[in-house]
Amino acid sequence: MKITPLSAVGAEVTEVDVKGLTDAQDAQLKAAFAQHGLLIFRDQDLVETDHVDLAERWGQINTNRFFKAHADHPQIALVDKAPDQIQNIGGDWHTDHSYDQVPALGSILVARTLPETGGDTWFASMYRAFDQLSDGLKTLLLTLNAVHSAKHVFGNKSEYMQTNISQKRMSRPDLADALPDPIHPVVVRHPLSGRPVLYVNPGFTIRFEGWTQEESAPLLNYLYQSAVVEDQVEVVDWRTGTIAFWDNRATWHFAQNDYPGQARRMHRITIEGEALQAHQ
Ligand code: SIN
Repeated sequence: MKITPLSAVGAEVTEVDVKGLTDAQDAQLKAAFAQHGLLIFRDQDLVETDHVDLAERWGQINTNRFFKAHADHPQIALVDKAPDQIQNIGGDWHTDHSYDQVPALGSILVARTLPETGGDTWFASMYRAFDQLSDGLKTLLLTLNAVHSAKHVFGNKSEYMQTNISQKRMSRPDLADALPDPIHPVVVRHPLSGRPVLYVNPGFTIRFEGWTQEESAPLLNYLYQSAVVEDQVEVVDWRTGTIAFWDNRATWHFAQNDYPGQARRMHRITIEGEALQAHQ
């Protein structure tokens, strides 16, 4: 097995079949995941049950509440875009499940149908997003918590529910509206690496705890802009046999929507995480 760091975020894993991982390879992958936050596997041949087995090596599966599920394998969420669909799923910077009290560890995305060109996924490192800030701003952020929510993304009034993807792709907006908005530290001690990681994201963070949305917006926007400087973004191109496994605590991702008139079908499994602690 070969693990090669990518230029901006993550590492590419080759010369391995994820269906037959040895304990030693498993341990190497877990260490690489903690270090890089994103593993891209190439040339894999994975049916749905293999995908489930791979995810279960890492933890319990969190069956998605808001995406349509695979008809035969409900643990697999469908991240689909049909040729006549305008909006895609995940088409903005976000990290999955920060709207949960106990956010997910990560997600394993498998390409099933790809457009001829386009449909890349971009990734940004939240280790780097924190590390590059000034000491003064780091000190302030270490004292703050932030409120996250699923309502504006998956609830009845969300953009998804107003567009043509709602009927086919999304479900249970009432559940999103009923979910209590969790509060997480703005700087988390990463559960695997122990390093400080910036844990706010444009998709689901709505404000700092004790601040209004208006007061929060300028600082949040500054953090968002500084986190996605162009040469620090990893552009992952999908090919048949590609799998991306990202850490939701250490990265953000953004599914590009640049293939009008073509289909893209991805299978995603999300793995349960643990309650997040503030970095001291
Ligand atoms: C997601 O946001 O989970 C999907 C990413 C992708 O489709 O590339």
